[in-house]
Amino acid sequence: MSVRHFLQFRDFSREDYAHLFERTRWIKHKFKRYEPYRPLHDRTLAMVFEKHSTRTRVSFEAGMHQLGGSVITLMTRDTQMGRGEPIEDVARVITRMVDIVMIRTFEQAIIERFAQYSRVPVINGLTNEYHPCQILGDIYTFVEYSGSITGKTVAWIGDSNNVCNTWLQAAEVFDFNVHVSTPPGYAVEPERAGLYGTDHYEEFEDPMEAVKGADLITTDVWTSMGMESEDADRKRDFEQWQVDAEMMQAAKKDALFMHCLPAHRGEEVAAEVIDGPHSVVWDEAENRMHTQKALMEYLLLGRVENQT
Ligand code: CP
Ligand code: NVA
Repeated sequence: MSVRHFLQFRDFSREDYAHLFERTRWIKHKFKRYEPYRPLHDRTLAMVFEKHSTRTRVSFEAGMHQLGGSVITLMTRDTQMGRGEPIEDVARVITRMVDIVMIRTFEQAIIERFAQYSRVPVINGLTNEYHPCQILGDIYTFVEYSGSITGKTVAWIGDSNNVCNTWLQAAEVFDFNVHVSTPPGYAVEPERAGLYGTDHYEEFEDPMEAVKGADLITTDVWTSMGMESEDADRKRDFEQWQVDAEMMQAAKKDALFMHCLPAHRGEEVAAEVIDGPHSVVWDEAENRMHTQKALMEYLLLGRVENQT
């Protein structure tokens, strides 16, 4: 039987996501009521980090503990990977010992090679190209606040990075529209984003035009991990792409603001927006944990129905 992985957003269908959201609701409700739910009591998650993390690490680690399982966290520089052991060999070894793996790494090709040699499900905890766990949590959060995302408009302001690419894939899965505004030279690359077409997003030179009538405005850092050498140029190029109060006002009256975090107030977002009434960033961060618990349950146990 082939093993199922979550390497990019389009690996799952709308029906898979509907199931995950149902389970997330149930799992979150139990958590809020302090009711134990430990279906993974004999399972182990290994996490491999080639880049920094706060939310991804804590949400997976706390989530796996709450499901009754154990966690091993590997920072590549402390392992033989940091001394050049091939990723294929690492995959063959650690997936004989653990039940599920989460990896945060550089190129998507690295996680794909790992998955090819893995005996167990592999989850993408962020690559240069994608961040599917982030958008899983983000769309769950959108649905909690505003209902179905199908047919809605999401405005992406800033860099066409891994988080943006994943929103664009999600738009194809859920059938919504993304208005993207990036500075010249930073436009979406549809092939790198892994898109089937270009009919679910529209590009805008002027960020003010992109946010008009949007149901959600979202952004991310101007300089992603691994691009630090470009920081000074990016600060100059992205100056006009800060989500500010004027942009928020141009969106729908009840529009939400999201940011995957960590945020830089005064750069990609004004403090009054991220700390203002439209912002749902703390619920968004918390929902990473609840949605990923549902994801691990799904990959390890298959379709579990909600119990009373
Ligand atoms: N949003 C997110 O993935 O945060 P971390 O980099 O802290 O894991
Ligand atoms: N685009 C950012 C996301 C961090 C969670 C990065 O890759 O650094």
